[in-house]
Amino acid sequence: MIKSAKWPIALVLLLTGSAIGLYLGMVVGGAANPSGLIDVGPWLRWGTPATRIVFEIAQALTIGGLVFMAFALSAKSHAFSRAVGFVAFSAAVWALAGTGYLFLTYLNITGGLFSLDNLFFDQFWIFLTSIELGQLLSLNVLAAYLLALVVLLIRNLTSLIFAAALSLASLIPLAFSGHSAGSASHALAVNALGLHLLGICIWVGGLAALIISYRRDPRAELVARYSSLALFSIGLVAVSGISSAQIRIGTLENWFTTGYGQVTLMKTAMLILLAGFGFLYRTRFIAKLSEANSGFWKLITVEFLIFGVSMGLGTALARTPNPVSDYPVGDLTPAEILTGSKLPAEPGAWSWITVWEIDLLWSIICLALAGFYLVGVLRLVRRGDNWPIARTISWLAGCGLLFYVTSGYFNVYEQYLFSAHMLSHMLLTMGVPVLLVPGAPVTLIARAAIKRSDDSRGLREWVLWAVNTRYAQVIAHPLVAAFLFASSLVVFYFTPLFGWATREHIGHQWMIVHFVITGYLFVQALIGVDPGPYRLGYPQRLILLIGTLAFHAFFGLAIMNGQTLLLPEWFGAMGRTWGPTPLEDQQIGGAIAWGIGEIPTAILTLYVAISWSKSDQRDAKRLDRASDRSGNQDLAEYNEWLERINKGK
Ligand code: HEM
Repeated sequence: MIKSAKWPIALVLLLTGSAIGLYLGMVVGGAANPSGLIDVGPWLRWGTPATRIVFEIAQALTIGGLVFMAFALSAKSHAFSRAVGFVAFSAAVWALAGTGYLFLTYLNITGGLFSLDNLFFDQFWIFLTSIELGQLLSLNVLAAYLLALVVLLIRNLTSLIFAAALSLASLIPLAFSGHSAGSASHALAVNALGLHLLGICIWVGGLAALIISYRRDPRAELVARYSSLALFSIGLVAVSGISSAQIRIGTLENWFTTGYGQVTLMKTAMLILLAGFGFLYRTRFIAKLSEANSGFWKLITVEFLIFGVSMGLGTALARTPNPVSDYPVGDLTPAEILTGSKLPAEPGAWSWITVWEIDLLWSIICLALAGFYLVGVLRLVRRGDNWPIARTISWLAGCGLLFYVTSGYFNVYEQYLFSAHMLSHMLLTMGVPVLLVPGAPVTLIARAAIKRSDDSRGLREWVLWAVNTRYAQVIAHPLVAAFLFASSLVVFYFTPLFGWATREHIGHQWMIVHFVITGYLFVQALIGVDPGPYRLGYPQRLILLIGTLAFHAFFGLAIMNGQTLLLPEWFGAMGRTWGPTPLEDQQIGGAIAWGIGEIPTAILTLYVAISWSKSDQRDAKRLDRASDRSGNQDLAEYNEWLERINKGK
């Protein structure tokens, strides 16, 4: 049915499904009933989520379309230019529906009172520019307008990747809005909703772009490429959806007895259905695609309908009061006011291994880094190629340490203890990179990932493109990497960056990424197996290492002997009832920066010294072999020279 008219029918099915899902979700969840506070009337009560659905579908088609094009299509194919047109159209719909949703959201907040006088529009402007929800939604809609323009200018994969990056970034403000804006479990709620929207966009938009790209049946490898994206997305949507639901539903009983719980159960059923379709694709349809009645299009038809229903249910859920309040209730302690969570108990001897607060985003990143690496190694081993086991162990240990720092003891205590913050910092910028770099991930990807032959870019092509960009060459230069590594510490702790990264969730995420990357670039410049833009000689590497870390030590000493509390409005106002005073704790942090920083230094120095002696040995062997091949010609010439000196000639 969908084969001939393709995307218009896909769109109709998505919208029909979402209308059904929205209606069901609003009625079952209770969002269809006038709310106790301000009743804005049925038009706004239904019109606002209905506009949100159009906005979310257009957003998914744009973002998923761009990701699918970047991962599956060649810029020289007709499919690419067709997809560009479709994505530009959906970005325009996203921008317009987003503007409408912004306006309706404002009317909801102001009780639905619309007027044409200046005051109304002045206040609406204040909502857009000074109220968090208005600011967040405006950022997303502005990105949509920009994309609607930029996408039309895309002519190659490089410009496409920047448009795709902008579209993905536009999900961040959305992740901070809605129920996630509450302070209870804020970090987890924001990460879960962000990952949820990301998975939905790639899944739904990728399928739409697949059918748009081809007038007749798509090539099997295109469907296979989409299927890999879909597999990744279904995992993301399921894990993030359940984590997000658990924060808001609380008890098992609430899943069955509350409107919010029941709508989430309906969504879970939809996801299981969609997973079944995915299984059918991978096990049956991809192989039979070239056959006339492969049933592929019938499946796609139903899938778009189910996607629509799930998105409708999701949008209704976002408007449904959830059993667990988004904000801590009762008399709040200073810690709850600052962090949104209660002060944890005083850490004991075993807290290092017994206290955990899983960070969904970084757990998924660590799992993906370890998982993809093992798939690559297995592929080489199956091909009979050799890959040193030490590299695999080092890489997996690096992923494990990153998981521990972002989900273990430090994720619980670093908001309350400067010393814990500093130690996690040292492990992120030194410990993790010293383990990851010897894993040689770029070399593994270059050898294990299948090389594309149709001018499209897969993981292998994008990684090799990224490490060879001018920008990468500059920041990976040993001197630049050393400067970034050393200066980041001082710039971070002695500027408002420290406050931003401590108070704001997005600041904290930036801090983790920044310090792992600057540490990685520095360690890569010293001991990296992967190719780099410029290799220093071993003596220069040792000098660079000792110089950089002397700088670290001075920084540690400065903090250790400092008498002024950094971030007094945070660490000084936490109301901590146990442990050292905030200043003593800060000085312990300084000692950690000075002391702990030395351990990875020693490892690096040892590593550089050993590699140096090994390369000398290799050189000696090579020279010996060359001398043997030339019948020790060089030795004879050297002895002749010595003789000449002896004779004073
Ligand atoms: C295991 C299955 C799933 C669970 C447990 C789940 C759970 C959730 C939760 C808890 C939310 C946040 C609602 C809020 O703000 O309170 C949400 C939002 C949403 N979900 Fe799901 N979901 C699942 C599957 C899906 C699927 C398969 C889709 C569509 C393909 C989907 C589409 C959406 C959408 C569009 C939103 C609304 C985002 C917003 O408007 O803020 N979900 N989901």
